Amino acid sequence: MSDQDTFYVTTPIYYPSAKLHIGHVYTTVAADTITKFKKMQGYDTMFLTGSDEHGQKIERKAQETGKEPAEYVDEIVASFKELWQELGIEYDDFIRTTEERHTEIIKKIFQKLYDKGDIYKGTYEGWYCTPCESYWSEREIGEEKVCPDCGRPVEWIDEENYFFKMTKYGSRLLEHIKEHPKFIQPESRRKEMINYIEESLEDLSVSRTSFDWGIKVPFDKDHVAYVWLDALCNYITAIGYMADEEKFNHYWPADIHIVGKDILRFHTVIWPCLLMALDLPLPKQVFGHGWLLTETGKMSKSKGNVVDPQVLKNHFGTDAIRYYLMREVPFGTDGTYSTEALIGRINSDLANDLGNLLNRTISMIEQYFSGVIPAPQKTDQIDRELKEAAADVVKEYGEHMEELKFTLALEELMSFVRRSNKYIDQTRPWILGRDEASKDRLATVLYNLMEALRIIAGLLKPFMVDTPFEMAKQMGIEGELKETTWQDLQEWGGLKSGVSVQKGEPLFPRIDVEEYFSDIEEEDTKQQKTVTESETTEGEEKVISFDDFKEMDIRVAEITAAEEIEDSDKLLKLEVDIGAETRQLVAGIANHYEPDQLKGRKVLVVINLEPAEIFGVKSNGMILAAENEEGDLALATVEKDMTPGSKVK
Ligand code: ME8
Ligand code: MG
Repeated sequence: MSDQDTFYVTTPIYYPSAKLHIGHVYTTVAADTITKFKKMQGYDTMFLTGSDEHGQKIERKAQETGKEPAEYVDEIVASFKELWQELGIEYDDFIRTTEERHTEIIKKIFQKLYDKGDIYKGTYEGWYCTPCESYWSEREIGEEKVCPDCGRPVEWIDEENYFFKMTKYGSRLLEHIKEHPKFIQPESRRKEMINYIEESLEDLSVSRTSFDWGIKVPFDKDHVAYVWLDALCNYITAIGYMADEEKFNHYWPADIHIVGKDILRFHTVIWPCLLMALDLPLPKQVFGHGWLLTETGKMSKSKGNVVDPQVLKNHFGTDAIRYYLMREVPFGTDGTYSTEALIGRINSDLANDLGNLLNRTISMIEQYFSGVIPAPQKTDQIDRELKEAAADVVKEYGEHMEELKFTLALEELMSFVRRSNKYIDQTRPWILGRDEASKDRLATVLYNLMEALRIIAGLLKPFMVDTPFEMAKQMGIEGELKETTWQDLQEWGGLKSGVSVQKGEPLFPRIDVEEYFSDIEEEDTKQQKTVTESETTEGEEKVISFDDFKEMDIRVAEITAAEEIEDSDKLLKLEVDIGAETRQLVAGIANHYEPDQLKGRKVLVVINLEPAEIFGVKSNGMILAAENEEGDLALATVEKDMTPGSKVK
């Protein structure tokens, strides 16, 4: 088999530092979808995901929980695998960077680059963001000394390190990027990367000495490999680099690395330079998708639950989530997750358009042909139009999939679903059914509808796990659908007649939005009640220690500026004076306070809360407020006038 017939796709390997959220699911579902599509096209696919287990961040997280890093990561990695299974993610391999098949090769890579003179010893003095495991220049961190990516404070490092001669490969990389317009996608991000290489490329510190949780540098045991060097190489260690050359050559170079825009630079600068140093070809494409943001505000009580993929799955099912993620946000741009929008998609696209098409068609075959798919007879203009629409849709869908335009591919597919519903209205089978003389015409119409459904189920296969097969089961073509190829979808008339259909449950029951949210509230209250009850029976209350309390740094702050945040009707962007400095933060109080009312007010702010980015706005601190049962809200304040910065204790 030649390289042309293989398709190798990767997701980032995720840090096992917390549970995965809907953003990670987004990346992984996209990679799974494109893999399933390529498989249907007949490619020998290889889909890799995994976990990025070394580094200071993981070491610290483990310490916080009082566990050894290895024990800590084992548990979380198990939860990753469980989630992927529940979401129908069919990876071919899951690599853990703590596995020997990886660590041994990283040592060899380090040695190879050292022997070659591409790794040398030096001193690193500068800033480091541990949560992102990345180095930043003075200019990048600005006056506030925060990570330009995540907004958290950076740490000063002064260590003897090994450096990788990245600058040696800068011009070759630029040339490659310019000659291969598809190497970095989407286009807008490509320019950003070119600018970065032209203006800021430096040699990279690739070892650390101040902690242990990493792969030891083979020729200097005081050093562990920089976690990004370790992590990026997973893409080659997993497929047998320096271990199974045949497998490696079979799949490398990767066809596509799918990553979030936050780590695009690591993949389009560091990674290609490393590959060039190893004399390996570069991946064909790195695709940097956008962020999936969440709205804060109104549904705050249940919010924590709702964006937990596991909880979403329990409520809506795997296919609805997968569909929503791929349908809603164009791959490449940022988007906002909202449960209302998810429910909207389920109701309109899936329950109404798709569910009804299947339901009506199967019912009519049962009613008019005793449940057996009839053979088509004479073809009409209307039939030809449907057939042409199918051919167009398959073609467009295929082109969009090649470019990871999932949203557009699904839009095409759904437009064909609606087109098929329209065909029912045009041909009016219920009228044809009244007259024995129209039996042939009715047979043709119903056959065509079933054929349209066969194509629809096939096109859904990359996106959904159960639904296409549930459709096929009702249509009597379950076995066939499993084997359906891309070619089969391009040929009208592939459906056999004479097969029995079997009506089943609706594919997607409609969801009542109001009811859904009141159920969630109820569940929450019940859960809280159970917790309190069990606590009372045991005679102990949920208490925190004085030390825990002391951890919180609450200050009097004066609001110096307030403005609305575009696209959000709940959030305000505030500037607050906390004595020593001015902070920017985002507060979900827009429904209760006008920006103009707020200037000059003294409020209370937790200033040592982890910074966050909400609707693209950095938030560094949290304003305190009281909320009653009716949802009225009042800002917390102190009873006498106090200077900004005064500590609340
Ligand atoms: O960065 N919206 O791991 P990580 C969309 N270990 N995508 C999101 C997202 C969001 N809100 N949040 C996270 C690492 N992601 C490294 C990768 S690869 C050699 C090493 C996705 O656990 C997005 O793809 O922090 C992001 O790049 C990835 O999760 C980061 O996951
Ligand atoms: Mg290939």
